[in-house]
Amino acid sequence: MQIVYSDKEQFIFKKISKAAMELNVPAFLIGGFVRDKIIGRTTKDADIVCLGDGIALANKVAEKFHPKPYVSFFKNFGTAQIKIDEFEIEFVGARKESYNYESRNPVVEPGSLVDDQNRRDFTINALAVNLNENDYGILIDPFNGLHDIEQKIIQTPLDPLQTFSDDPLRMMRAIRFASQLDFLIEEKTFKAIIDNAERIKIISQERIADELNKIMLSPKPSVGLDLLSKSGLMQIIFPQMMALHGAEYVDGLGHKDNFYHTLQVIDNICANTNDLWLRWAALLHDIGKPPTKRFEEGHGWTFHGHEVVGARMVPKIFSKLKLPMNEKMKFVQKLVELHLRPISLTKENITDSAIRRLLFDAGEDIDALMLLCEADITSKNKQKVKRYLQNFELVRQRMKEVEEKDHLRNWQPPITGEMIMQTFGLEPGKNVGIIKDAIREAILDGIIPNSYEAAHQFMLQKAADLNLQPF
Ligand code: CTP
Repeated sequence: MQIVYSDKEQFIFKKISKAAMELNVPAFLIGGFVRDKIIGRTTKDADIVCLGDGIALANKVAEKFHPKPYVSFFKNFGTAQIKIDEFEIEFVGARKESYNYESRNPVVEPGSLVDDQNRRDFTINALAVNLNENDYGILIDPFNGLHDIEQKIIQTPLDPLQTFSDDPLRMMRAIRFASQLDFLIEEKTFKAIIDNAERIKIISQERIADELNKIMLSPKPSVGLDLLSKSGLMQIIFPQMMALHGAEYVDGLGHKDNFYHTLQVIDNICANTNDLWLRWAALLHDIGKPPTKRFEEGHGWTFHGHEVVGARMVPKIFSKLKLPMNEKMKFVQKLVELHLRPISLTKENITDSAIRRLLFDAGEDIDALMLLCEADITSKNKQKVKRYLQNFELVRQRMKEVEEKDHLRNWQPPITGEMIMQTFGLEPGKNVGIIKDAIREAILDGIIPNSYEAAHQFMLQKAADLNLQPF
């Protein structure tokens, strides 16, 4: 196996090789960098493991560069890091680990290269490349990691029950790699995840969220999400998602399985966006369906108000999953709440005012909302899909026309609350709100044009109705 390095990587690795020889400390490239090179993915940082003191090696390597890079190190962990341009290199001494059942923090002692490869999570992550002069560039692959990369298999180097019990985060990592790389998790390994699923509870929520986001950013998140569901991990970390499962039948009337519908919506949207939060909006768009599900006699299944209930669930879910409680969450919440609106505009005889209202409510997120709605079409009937997409195209066309006429994107009504207070000598209060809302509604409904003069006239009229006189 010939791994191809860039000139810069080759230059750096030769220097590491030289420094290692001077210190008489054998050094090896290991882990994700080697894996990604073999697969042909872009690599960002590299891990070097050495049979000796990793911090001393990092210092020796740093001396070989001009200007000398800064060496940051953690004495307790015996790790050191240098950065050459944007390339991060981490150094650590080879180690042997033993774990305590209660935590994922191992007791660490120095070990051989094989000990170090043994303690790693997957065979594909345990490959090492020799950096020592005599065997420079030779792959050291005691667990057939290369074969597993070629066959697209994820399995652990040791007994999977042990590997996952030692560090339960690895269960999420296995699923994340399967989703990112489109690999299969070997049967015994997957069975061990099912058996150890409960142990995910000792992992911090931040790390779980990190892996979840990596799954969401993978080319087809449905792969990872389905594995999370089948392994039992989803039930523990995100039970609201599991509630979407199942298609119920009453009197021969059924509804679609909302879990698999949601997965398809995510894969659909991923073909059109890399935006993590838009992908989250797709994941959560129907999250309000289980609590609003009803069977109406003679009619069938309904989920009335699921978009409103779903939007209310978003902050709770974000908070529990330790996702950011900021404008990203607000964006997801807004999209969940609005996700049915464009569909309601695909009917005939839609007025300009309905289009204007949507433009106003969605504001700058209108394009994201349209992508979500298009992704939400998961019918197997090709004719139907074609018709829905054509309808959305018409909505887009109408929005463009209204937008060109009224400029409603990021729109604010021409009369502000401040102006109302000044005109009528009012303190902030109910009447200011009434007048302000009335102006906005009149413009959106097309009763008055979107201009300062018209809004001013309307304000005077509305104020007169409330017995208010200009100041
Ligand atoms: N590793 C492990 N168990 C973990 C985390 C990491 O055995 N829970 C080992 C693996 O050998 C991994 C290496 O440490 O390849 C580096 O870990 P990390 O940088 O977190 O992951 P990568 O495999 O490099 O992948 P990514 O950068 O995509 O997270």
